[in-house]
Amino acid sequence: MIVAGVMSGTSADGINVALVRIDSPARSRARTPGPHQLKVKLLGHSEFSYPPAVRSFILSTMNSDRAKVADLARLNFLLGELYANALLATQRKFRIKVQLVGCHGQTIYHQGETFAFLGKKLATTWQTGEGAIIAARVGVPVVSDFRPADIAAGGKGAPLVPFLDFLFYRDSRVGRIAQNIGGIANLTAIPAGASQKQVIAFDTGPGNMVIDAVTERFFHQPYDRDGLIAASGRVLDSVIVAVLREPFFRRRPPKTAGREEFGREFTKEFIARCGRAHGRDVVATATALTARSIAGALRRFVLRGRGAYRDFIISGGGTRNTTLMAMLANELRPLGVQVRFSDEFGLPSEAKEATAFAVLAYQAWHRRPANMPSATGARKPAILGKISYA
Ligand SMILES: Nc1ncnc2c1ncn2[C@@H]1O[C@H](COP(=O)(O)OP(=O)(O)O)[C@@H](O)[C@H]1O
Ligand SMILES: [Mg+2]
Repeated sequence: MIVAGVMSGTSADGINVALVRIDSPARSRARTPGPHQLKVKLLGHSEFSYPPAVRSFILSTMNSDRAKVADLARLNFLLGELYANALLATQRKFRIKVQLVGCHGQTIYHQGETFAFLGKKLATTWQTGEGAIIAARVGVPVVSDFRPADIAAGGKGAPLVPFLDFLFYRDSRVGRIAQNIGGIANLTAIPAGASQKQVIAFDTGPGNMVIDAVTERFFHQPYDRDGLIAASGRVLDSVIVAVLREPFFRRRPPKTAGREEFGREFTKEFIARCGRAHGRDVVATATALTARSIAGALRRFVLRGRGAYRDFIISGGGTRNTTLMAMLANELRPLGVQVRFSDEFGLPSEAKEATAFAVLAYQAWHRRPANMPSATGARKPAILGKISYA
């Protein structure tokens, strides 16, 4: 089956589309195959930036205490149209027609921990981008809204990509860690020969989100291209030490983060902590925070007392930030893991998450669960997503 995956991450930079061929081996078709029994091949992928006005609307909505209901309704339909256009353009580019779409949508709110609201403790999540519009425009069924079913099963609704990590990276002899650096950074640790239950996955903290925010604030650019600004600045160690003492970094996994943790409020405090430092030093410090929080999470929650890991496989937009990559390599050297890029495993960095949602859609279409309870904290496996028919 040919399935398209569509992803828009917390960076709200745009839309990634992956065209993927997915097959289940014949002998396991009747039963429920584990993720490593699926055959997945990426056929093509493309990337589309949101128009600047759309991006800034999304960012202000995510950070807002008072978004207008009418605008939220409009955004849902607008994104449906943009996702459909991205899909149609990608189909044309590769001359491939898909049979099914999995669209993650744009998260505008995510709160994986329960929180008291009007007398009830709830975890919540909200991805927008109307599946019915995509189905109508592209002419095939669309699976969207993957996270609520995991929350309904008692999970945090995230992370969902570990299902794909397990499929691609599980090895009988080698322990591997997959680290994605999007707006938020998250890792999946797969011990050698692991079963699904042994996989550890959680958000390590900010990925590019704080770097982007301080770059915008001091240099009026959406991100620190190739890490050039950070390379020219000085890291303020005391700020990093103080920030890493915050509860999020100490909390044991499973745990998830988003703009609610590392958005506008966090950035404001971060800049205040940097005092009168020059903008380039603030950017360098934000970059070092990402590198050190990743290494810290590894030391605290993954490497200690567990099997050996050899490969550290990175993906996401953060891999293009050369300074961040150099800082991360420095942090990881003493930990004895080898840095590798997901591209080496047939998953180009920018296509990985979109590929994951194609695979999750395929699972939903076949009524198979796709959450990993060990990653999300769910009580049981759940079939993820809602289907809009064309
Ligand atoms: N050339 C580059 N140099 C530095 N950073 C980059 C570059 N290209 C992309 N990025 C970073 O990657 C981010 C997007 O990464 P992505 O994996 O799409 O995140 P998300 O999943 O949150 O959307 C951008 O916001 C930016 O911070
Ligand atoms: Mg993105």
